[in-house]
Amino acid sequence: MPILRSAFIALSRNRMMRRFSESSSVGRRLSSRFVAGLELEDALRVAEAVNRQGMAVTLDSLGESVSTEVEAHQAAEIYHQLLDQIAARKLNANISVKLTQMGLELDRKLAGDIAEGLARHASVKGNFLRIDMEDSSLTQVTLDIVRRINALPKLRGSIGVVIQAYLYRSQSDIEQLLAEGIRVRLCKGAYKEPAEVAFPSKADVDTNYVRLSGMLLESPVYHGLATHDEAMIAAAKKFAVNHRIEASRFEFQMLYGVRRDLQRALVQEGYNVRVYIPFGREWYPYFMRRLAERPANVLFLAKNYFRN
Ligand code: FDA
Repeated sequence: MPILRSAFIALSRNRMMRRFSESSSVGRRLSSRFVAGLELEDALRVAEAVNRQGMAVTLDSLGESVSTEVEAHQAAEIYHQLLDQIAARKLNANISVKLTQMGLELDRKLAGDIAEGLARHASVKGNFLRIDMEDSSLTQVTLDIVRRINALPKLRGSIGVVIQAYLYRSQSDIEQLLAEGIRVRLCKGAYKEPAEVAFPSKADVDTNYVRLSGMLLESPVYHGLATHDEAMIAAAKKFAVNHRIEASRFEFQMLYGVRRDLQRALVQEGYNVRVYIPFGREWYPYFMRRLAERPANVLFLAKNYFRN
């Protein structure tokens, strides 16, 4: 793993830096490139604007690893409000949730119950709950929770999960999820993982991404291909054309603030695009992972900061 990427991932876990950055106005200003704002209302406003540009959205109320049950329920409450507001404002939006924010590391049952409550609410509103994937120590428990909820009466199709192409296990996970009709978002993977569980080289991750996206595109279920990598996108488009898979049967997903040019171009070509919009006060770990993906972003942000 390149040194800068490791450094940013290490920084993403640094508590002192996090406390300092989240409370500083400079930090907030820099993060605004990738984060919609601090409040729920900011996220809804940005979602509306993105919808107007012909793209769907998924909303992420930032936060990871809560330390009390009360915090987990508070985090869930924001998502319940989002589901109500999405319906009230008729937004083309769903929600993306991290199970550690719902208390996974305190009590698995707590996180499972909260996720089930959100899936029920989403289902009543005709909406959908996506469970984000975190580091590999949580892959199995995350999949177990999603599969249990999807198997409940009336909840089939209301919950989906994320699979990371850098993990060796992902092909067999996808086979199982497809057999159960569960919607998948495929991404490359954003955490620092050891070579025992994940491909160390980018080329291998990319090859696996292309292979797994083919499996998803061929299935009858609606999936999301989350990437800004033009080679991955070109491979998916080619696969779809060769296998006569219509553009309406899948979507591309990208992060708010990343490759906006590519997002617009895909919409113009007639593809479904969904933008992942994070918001909230706890933006620091998310922001650092984005810098880890592309250290050149630091220069980009610095240039824009001083230009304003
Ligand atoms: P790659 O990193 O190879 O980058 C390809 C090109 O894309 C770069 O050359 C650059 O041009 C552009 N690019 C990529 N990242 C950029 C950035 N931050 N800023 C500017 N340009 C950038 N991960 C995870 O582990 N669990 C999850 O649940 C999710 N969820 C998720 C949702 C959505 C909608 C997206 C798009 C991504 C995720 N991810 C994620 C993150 C994902 O795993 C991965 O870290 C990033 O998408 C970067 O990988 P790319 O596929 O974009 O390719």
